[in-house]
Amino acid sequence: MKKILILTGGGDCPGLNAVIRGVAKSARKEKWEVYGSIEAFNGVLNEPQEIIRLTSKRTAGIHVKGGTILKTTNKSSPIKFPVMQQDGSIKFIDRSDELVDKLKKLDFDAVINIGGDGSQRISKVLFDKGIPIIGVPKTIDNDLSATDMTFGFQTAVQIATDSFDKLVTTAESHHRVMIMEVMGRDAGWIALHTAIAGGAEICLIPEIPYDVNKLVKRIELRYSKGRGFVNIVIAEGARPKAGSVTASTAEKGSEHVRLGGVAYQLTKQLKDAGCKAEIRETVLGHVQRGGTPSAFDRVLASAFGVKAFELANENKFGRMVALRNNTITSVTLKEATSEPNFVKKDTYLVKAAKELGISFGD
Ligand code: F6P
Repeated sequence: MKKILILTGGGDCPGLNAVIRGVAKSARKEKWEVYGSIEAFNGVLNEPQEIIRLTSKRTAGIHVKGGTILKTTNKSSPIKFPVMQQDGSIKFIDRSDELVDKLKKLDFDAVINIGGDGSQRISKVLFDKGIPIIGVPKTIDNDLSATDMTFGFQTAVQIATDSFDKLVTTAESHHRVMIMEVMGRDAGWIALHTAIAGGAEICLIPEIPYDVNKLVKRIELRYSKGRGFVNIVIAEGARPKAGSVTASTAEKGSEHVRLGGVAYQLTKQLKDAGCKAEIRETVLGHVQRGGTPSAFDRVLASAFGVKAFELANENKFGRMVALRNNTITSVTLKEATSEPNFVKKDTYLVKAAKELGISFGD
């Protein structure tokens, strides 16, 4: 009987469980045994190993649940694995050969790696070393160019928009400037979609550095006609033209620095530039990654799962499933990781936002 291993890596994202269920259901139909590795590849690397059988009882109805039943981590890439040294510092080591040995001994006929760009880079390394692997793209940031959309993104935008709508009524009541910070370290897609959906006055994203003086002018314009109010969406990775992004130090072993707090930094910049209005900040944070996936994300994630098994069944390894032109298809892992999907200044949504009166401060 053939065996398939599923795992989820990187930050969690609504829809992961729907992918797991999609793979598992279609694999079981073809009489494959389905397994899951706990906490990305740690389940394989750890001694004792943590690999569980994904029975139909374990995966029934999980597409509705947020998070991942297989758990995840963004702190133990097998190609850059953090090892604590005696002096407390962290050294990163390459454990890919050890992982390949262990996977070969386990003798899976297919491995499904559900994760973002970092995870798919790992997939590529493992595929090049002989592992029959298939990638499934996930990220709420929607920053992978090989797929038109990643699951989790729509849910995050809906959560952000619902929050934004609530902030509009309180901004209006108090004649305040409300700054709402959303996720997006390099890509401003969540901020851009939320700003349009919510009807923001200002949208600040990592790809378009802003001029604080222009923002103050935009705010003054709103207040010039009487008791104004302003709603701003800012992505955590946004920065002024002159200045850098707020980043707290990285957690030990983390693959990236922790962002968060640009909303407070923006308040200070606005005040320093002469903004008289009262300002309040809301940092949405991980709320955007949690909870029930939207219907759209459940559908996309489920179809991705089914497609991933289809590729495995046809021995088409070294590929990542993708949504392109409204079709579920696949691309090579090389293509999958070659280019990020950032908001371009001339993208139609930026033009539309500007036509709607949204300022990017550029
Ligand atoms: O990559 C997705 C993302 O949500 C980013 O937008 C954000 O910067 C990061 O994950 C936060 O990750 P963590 O779970 O480490 O706080």
